[in-house]
Amino acid sequence: MVSAGTVRRFPEGFRWGVGTSAYQIEGAWDEDGKGVSIWDSFAHTPGRIRNGDTGDVANDHYHRYKDDVALMRSIGATAYRFSIAWPRIFPEGAGTPNPKGLDFYHRLVDELLSAGIEPFVTLYHWDLPQELQDAYDGWRSIETPNAFADYAGYVSEQLGDRVKHFITINEFRSFVEAGYQVVDVKVGGKTLQLGGAPGMRLSDSELKQVRHHAVLGHGLAVQAIRASAPRGTKVGFAENIRVAVPIIDTPDHIAAADAATRERNAGFMTVMLEGRYTDAYLAEAGGNSPTYTDEELATIASPIDFVGINVYRPGWYVEPSDEPPGYHEIPINASHPKMQSDWHLLDPEVMYWAPRQMQSIWDAKSIYITENGCAASDFVADDGKIYDTDRVMFLRSCLGQLQRATAEGVPVDGYFHWSAQDNFEWVDGYGNRFGLIYVDFDTLARTPKLSAEWFRTAARQNAVV
Ligand code: FCB
Repeated sequence: MVSAGTVRRFPEGFRWGVGTSAYQIEGAWDEDGKGVSIWDSFAHTPGRIRNGDTGDVANDHYHRYKDDVALMRSIGATAYRFSIAWPRIFPEGAGTPNPKGLDFYHRLVDELLSAGIEPFVTLYHWDLPQELQDAYDGWRSIETPNAFADYAGYVSEQLGDRVKHFITINEFRSFVEAGYQVVDVKVGGKTLQLGGAPGMRLSDSELKQVRHHAVLGHGLAVQAIRASAPRGTKVGFAENIRVAVPIIDTPDHIAAADAATRERNAGFMTVMLEGRYTDAYLAEAGGNSPTYTDEELATIASPIDFVGINVYRPGWYVEPSDEPPGYHEIPINASHPKMQSDWHLLDPEVMYWAPRQMQSIWDAKSIYITENGCAASDFVADDGKIYDTDRVMFLRSCLGQLQRATAEGVPVDGYFHWSAQDNFEWVDGYGNRFGLIYVDFDTLARTPKLSAEWFRTAARQNAVV
């Protein structure tokens, strides 16, 4: 028996959550009056998604949400982060709301609450109404952040009696950089376009303006939620912070890593938490700086109640330097370990440094890990089980590092595993499985994996197990 002193426990009230997003699991892409989103259009364009997969049916969660809530409960989740499909609520992006679309989320929230699972609602997980894309080129125009704020205010008013946590936007960096600056890659003599919806290719200065509109949309939505939802409703964002990891755990290395993280997140995290673009960001942009007013900067930095960070991999390794800016990046060795996805460098310590830097750089008072997880080569074994040993390793080592942060007083209030179930992984289609629950995409049958058992035990004990 281990003594109580050696148990790696999390603080009381720590949330054990799982996450998904609307386009990745709901399906029912044109049901009950839903409008078309840019991801519907993108996935329907031949050549965009691996295997020609689409989210038309996805996990059919729209019809199976009751079973899915029961499954989440059975794997010990105490919180569920999901997103609302904007075009279900406003099929044209703005104007008249669609009551049937909203009804689905009413039913889902009720089901969650009766299962003892706390809903955390993301308002934008990339599925922009196509009408706003067509009319305004999406986030290129200030009309889109304005429409987003109206939608956010409306939803928080409708659900705010039962939903206590709203996340404005998921991963600013991902949808802006991938959606608006598509790149060409050569594979076997063929040129492929890499990126997500809406699949635009803008110049650097245009891209900086899109970034600005995205963070402005966040700020406007925070204000709209404050004006519409009951007092006490908590609002934040979920950003995939790029974390500079110090090579050595000494004060000079740590200070260098803090400086690098602050600078390398200048267009998103830093401006949202500081209300200004860093000098280096503006200097580097030169004539390509975004156009903005002081009032917009103040809106962007509207006070929030928590910060959500999606943490998968180290951004860079850095060392201190005597030359400005005081740090320098170290190349990552070719043999550095990886998880299954091409981009997924493995370093569990990033789960320690990311929240710790949120506290040391920005004095964050409430932090959620809004995503963390990995794809794995899961398959159903002869005995019907899914032995995802690598995901169990990943979970235990990441949560061990997160517990280290909480034990040092870093205020992390919860963890959301990405994902509750295997789902549509954007341009990778259904090939990359991130779930704690396995989904057979022919029959749509769900089976909890070994990692779900790990998660359930950890959640019950509120500890690393
Ligand atoms: C994040 C996305 C999420 C999922 C995971 C694997 O970038 O927010 O939807 O695709 O990666």
